[in-house]
Amino acid sequence: MEFPAMQKADALDFFSEYGKMIYNPTGIFYWTGRSKDEAKINATIGTAIGRGKQIQEDWGDAKITMCIPSMKQYFPQLNPNEIFPYAPEAGVPAFRQAWQNWLLRKAGSHAERLKRQLLQPVVVPGITGAISVCTRMFVDPGAPIIVPDKRWENYDNIFLRNVGVTIEEFPAFAGQDFNLDGFIGAIQRVWEKQNRAVAMLNFPNNPTGYCPPKKAAAEITQAIQDLVKSTSKKLVLIFDDAYEGYVYDADAEFYSTFYGMEPQANFLPVKLDGISKELLWYGARIGMINIACPDAWFEKAGKDELAKEIDNKFRGVVRNTVSNCSMNAQQAALKALQDIDQVLKERQKTYDVLAERYHIMKAELAKIKTDLLIPDPFQGGFFCFVNLNPKAGLKAFDVCDHLLKQYKCGTVPIEQGEINGIRLAFCGVEAQDIPELCQSLEKAVLDLVS
Ligand SMILES: Cc1ncc(COP(=O)(O)O)c(C=O)c1O
Repeated sequence: MEFPAMQKADALDFFSEYGKMIYNPTGIFYWTGRSKDEAKINATIGTAIGRGKQIQEDWGDAKITMCIPSMKQYFPQLNPNEIFPYAPEAGVPAFRQAWQNWLLRKAGSHAERLKRQLLQPVVVPGITGAISVCTRMFVDPGAPIIVPDKRWENYDNIFLRNVGVTIEEFPAFAGQDFNLDGFIGAIQRVWEKQNRAVAMLNFPNNPTGYCPPKKAAAEITQAIQDLVKSTSKKLVLIFDDAYEGYVYDADAEFYSTFYGMEPQANFLPVKLDGISKELLWYGARIGMINIACPDAWFEKAGKDELAKEIDNKFRGVVRNTVSNCSMNAQQAALKALQDIDQVLKERQKTYDVLAERYHIMKAELAKIKTDLLIPDPFQGGFFCFVNLNPKAGLKAFDVCDHLLKQYKCGTVPIEQGEINGIRLAFCGVEAQDIPELCQSLEKAVLDLVS
């Protein structure tokens, strides 16, 4: 990216090599910005947007970021000590414990084992912060991190430009399924060069909305367990669970695949999650790093001693980057977690709105007649993804531009390597607008090929 004004002013000379190199790609923000001005239907934004009255009767018809209304009531309840002091580097202890309890509640039959194996979660600034910290913690500069080709665009900022690692990618899908062979192959490729591989999976996925069907989730878990048992090479498997719990297909695994992953002496599963989407509180900037340790570690070194030392390392990173995370957000979220059934009851309204949109989106995409648009499988999350058939000879950027100019529908194109398609953020599109969005997409493609 060029910085002509900074160059003209000779301002870049004041910056380090990192400062000269770093930039914020225009990507999604460019399309979101244009869509705000030009779009009638805006499918670019990655937050759940709806009408106030959809979550609380007396909130009227205005468009709002959907949230958990009772969360607001916790703010006046906070006492000065819950607002003004610094929070501890790794997070407020009671909040960390409450988050772990929430995680164990979701873990179902794996809860007993995880109770033993989990360390206290470390609080970081959002899941973005968690990805950044964990990349730095587990991947050496220049070494690869394994991710699918369809991934959240910010991964590349974090991996390539901020932390300075490389990407070992694999095609996300084999037909309509997760590309398990491709994933295992990528791990094996890394193991050929080094002893420790680090991989990151994200279900429900951004940008595709894919979450593994129950059978596929079991196969992924089994394949990973078999793989690590067959070698002494090490694997750190990181789950980006930003959208955990937003699954609308009854056949799909509702909660994270992380829970079924049993740590081994050479296998460390790590779960990144947070309150941005799970508690619909994006602006709080609270994410969590949850590490499940192999029993062998505790047998050798003792759980308390080990936990203290690992905690110290993460505290070190938090301390030397952001120092600590928001005190009042942790305290308010703690109160919410203590009343989790009420929170879930309120969140259900947003879930229902999203689920309705999801089902309409599925039905409308199925009505598209042209074979120039190929939707990826999707079972949950906030998005879905439609590939442009290579035989169309079109670029996703041109389709999105035409879709916006001609049909006033804002979407996000992704063109990277073999990927050439369009992300539709149904989380921000009202149910009645989804048919028009899908029909307009089809028309835009047909306009451009005719
Ligand atoms: C896949 C994925 N991971 C992580 C994040 C970041 O979440 P947070 O807002 O907690 O930093 C996002 C946000 O859009 C995302 O889509």
